[in-house]
Amino acid sequence: MNRTAAVVERIEALRNEINYHSRQYYVFDEPVIPDTEYDRLFRELQNLEAEFPQFIIADSPTQRVGDTPLAGFNEVTHSLPMLSLDNAFEEDEMGEFERRIRDRLKLDGGEKISYLAEPKLDGLAVSLRYEQGRLVLGATRGDGSRGEDVTSNVRTINAVPLKLQGNDWPPVLEVRGEVFMPREGFEALNKHARELGEKSFVNPRNAAAGSLRQLDPRLTAKRPLSFYTYGFGEVAPAPIASTQSESIYRLRHWGLPISPLQEVVTGIQECINYYLQIVQQRDTLPYDIDGVVFKVDDLNRQQQLGFISRAPRWAIAYKFPAQEEMTQVESIEFQVGRTGAITPVARLNPVFVGGVTVSNATLHNMDEVMRKDVRPGETGGGCGSYPVN
Ligand code: IVH
Repeated sequence: MNRTAAVVERIEALRNEINYHSRQYYVFDEPVIPDTEYDRLFRELQNLEAEFPQFIIADSPTQRVGDTPLAGFNEVTHSLPMLSLDNAFEEDEMGEFERRIRDRLKLDGGEKISYLAEPKLDGLAVSLRYEQGRLVLGATRGDGSRGEDVTSNVRTINAVPLKLQGNDWPPVLEVRGEVFMPREGFEALNKHARELGEKSFVNPRNAAAGSLRQLDPRLTAKRPLSFYTYGFGEVAPAPIASTQSESIYRLRHWGLPISPLQEVVTGIQECINYYLQIVQQRDTLPYDIDGVVFKVDDLNRQQQLGFISRAPRWAIAYKFPAQEEMTQVESIEFQVGRTGAITPVARLNPVFVGGVTVSNATLHNMDEVMRKDVRPGETGGGCGSYPVN
């Protein structure tokens, strides 16, 4: 084999290997090599591509970050609208949700309904379009009918495959999912911003939204964004399975990440149990969630149920109680810790938030007090402004 043929072969092998390791990490949560080894493979590919630029292709793992900032985002019309969800806040409302479904489907008392249950991620919705297995468009939700073309930015998110794995995907596959910023990355980003004297973000959702709407994809690439798929837009030919859970499961084999907490549950009692189980886990998850979502699993039933205004009748978001409330600062006191460290603490007009009554909030240190300009007698809200817990 001559040198060029050997290089082409090696480049191909490296791309496959790098994509395989990305999937093990992002899709299956089972990395098989340490980061340093991954970096070594990546650098070898970068070096070969630098030497032989004629073999660079758009979906090479080295080509996630473009170098041309955009003047603005183009508008895109979604091939199918991006819907929103009806909300439930109480157990009773979950019962009503199922009763409405039973009535519409004319089910008798004995027949049970299965749902695909999953956390409701607190990020922003995007649509990803794959044609012939290649990512051709990434768009924000916008008003549900029209969004913005953020393809160059979604390409920088490592959890988003540029190319689907295998060859049994439909030629047109549009998936919908949530771009979010894991808490650890958010904390690091804010720490860095504070060190530089820059404005920090209020919460991971705002940080994710701000990052995805950068005109320079090189900036987006530096933000720790991730992605989980939860649904479909245009799929041709369709369907790819007869249930929501199997359809989503097939996506995993094509390299799209889905939430590891997805579960099929049957009947409303199992929905409630799932909700309670996720409430328990909420604080230990590496990202923010604001509820759980239930979707009728059977796709024929989904079709029969259809939509009302902008939301499907076959899905519901069972939301957690709000974790941000407004209240008044009564006074600021200083606590002296065991080591002599002084911590300013706000005494609050008691407020019920996230299922508990909060009457004190740490202000961390004087820099924070000055930065947030917290003063007795004033009213503020949200963990971002006065941390109430
Ligand atoms: S399903 C047809 N599943 O919630 C169903 N949405 O209030 C449409 N979201 O815009 C959405 N996690 O940004 C669905 N597991 C999940 C979700 C989820 C977060 C967001 C999504 C959507 C909003 C609807």
